[in-house]
Order: sequence, then C-alpha cells, then structure tokens
Amino acid sequence: MAQMDKSTRNVMMDMPIVDARVVEFLRDGQRQLIGELRNIQLYAFERKMPIIPHETAKFLQFLMSVLAPKRVLEVGTAIGFSAGLMALSAPDANITTIDRYGLMIERAKENFKKLGVLDRVTLLEGDAENLLPEMLENDCSRFDFIFLDCAKSKYIEFLPLCLKLLSSDGAIMIDDIFQGGTIFDDESEVRHNRRKIYEGLNALLREVNARTDLISTALPLGDGVLLIKKSGLTG
Ligand SMILES: C[S@@+](CC[C@H](N)C(=O)[O-])C[C@H]1O[C@@H](n2cnc3c(N)ncnc32)[C@H](O)[C@@H]1O
Repeated sequence: MAQMDKSTRNVMMDMPIVDARVVEFLRDGQRQLIGELRNIQLYAFERKMPIIPHETAKFLQFLMSVLAPKRVLEVGTAIGFSAGLMALSAPDANITTIDRYGLMIERAKENFKKLGVLDRVTLLEGDAENLLPEMLENDCSRFDFIFLDCAKSKYIEFLPLCLKLLSSDGAIMIDDIFQGGTIFDDESEVRHNRRKIYEGLNALLREVNARTDLISTALPLGDGVLLIKKSGLTG
C-alpha cells in the first residue's frame, strides 16, 4: 500500500483528544445546571462525593431528552444526582435506582424530595447482586434505559442480567470504564487491590466487542462511558 504523503495526512488524528483545554471547556465552558440540581452537584463536588462529572451529566441530559425513556433503571444512586437529573430530563420516565449504602440512600431520598421527583423515583435498598436477579425472577417489565454506575468490577457480572432486563430497543450506559487509562496498563503493573477492577473492566470491553448481537461505542467522557444496545442481529 502506498505511503500517505505527509503533507496530506491529517495531523489531528495523531493528537490526544482530551487535552486539558477540552476538559476545561466540557466542565466549565458548557452551560451549568440550574436550581436544586446545581445545588446537589455543588454539594457533592465540595465533599468529593462520587457523582458523574459535568460533561457526563450534560451527555446524560441530552440522551434522556432524545430517547425520552419511559422506564429507567440505575445501579448506583449515591446521593441521587444522576437519578434526579434523568427524572428531570425525561419527564415521562419512571426511574428505579439501586444502592446498598445507607448514608447515601438517606441523602438521596431528601434530594428526590427537593427535586420534586419522589413520585417517579423508586429507590431499592440493597446489593444489586441480589436485587437484579430478583427483578428478573419477578418478571418485572423491561427497562428502556439502564445506567450502571456502581462497583466497577461488577459490571461484567451485571451485564447479562441487565441485557435481560433491557427492552429490545433500549440502551445501556456504563460509567467509569477507563480508570484513568490504567485498564490498558500491562497486567504485571497492576497493584493487587486494583486487580479485580482491572480484570473486570477488561473482560467487559472484550465481551462487548466480541458480541455481534450488540452495538456499542466507548466515549472519553469523564473517566470513560460505554454505550450498548442490542443490534437485533444474532450470531
Ligand atoms: C459512583 S456512585 C454513583 C453516583 C451516581 N450515579 C451519580 O452520579 O449521582 C456509586 C454508588 O454505587 C453504590 N454501589 C456500588 N456497588 C453496588 C452494588 N453492588 N449494589 C448496590 N449499590 C452499589 C455505592 O454505594 C455508591 O453509592
């Protein structure tokens, strides 16, 4: 194959995408949230609580407004920021959100009240490891959007359950898939206490890439976002 002439090569292709100025724009240059949602976001930022960063919040807000889902499932409520944002951005949606951490759950309940979305948000308290199979056993109706933002090593375990809980044209969004890029480190460099996350996230990306019955795309938003949809094709 002929070498590409250097003068015609798109030099931008070799540059890192997320340079600091781009991240600064995504976080500070894009229009900020307003009202109670902004207060909850600031409360979390000030206390370094683990909520999605602003660029991911903007993306999720946009996605909700385009997809207009009716039934949403979230794993990883924390203080209810992303669930509240989804409820406000998709006014016809009923949201089921799961968390196992009592302190977060209490704060989330207060926040859903402040946001005026208590009637559309169901907070399930417990480990998703038990609750997701229970939902399947009880044959709960399917969700048209599922947001996974919980223990990162568990994504690979939760994926098959979530695919069963997903409607045929629904979408799954998974947050924090890159771990600051460390999932691409050589295995020998990974510290013992990070190994489960490293292996789990690598297994997730391999699985999703290998399956022709799924369409997926990874985005460098925040610490990485993975979007998955059933392709409708088998094999
Ligand atoms: C990153 S925070 C979620 C942030 C939230 N989605 C937001 O952006 O506002 C992760 C939450 O997942 C919860 N979590 C982690 N693993 C879980 C599991 N297996 N079952 C239920 N909750 C889990 C933690 O207690 C924590 O509150």
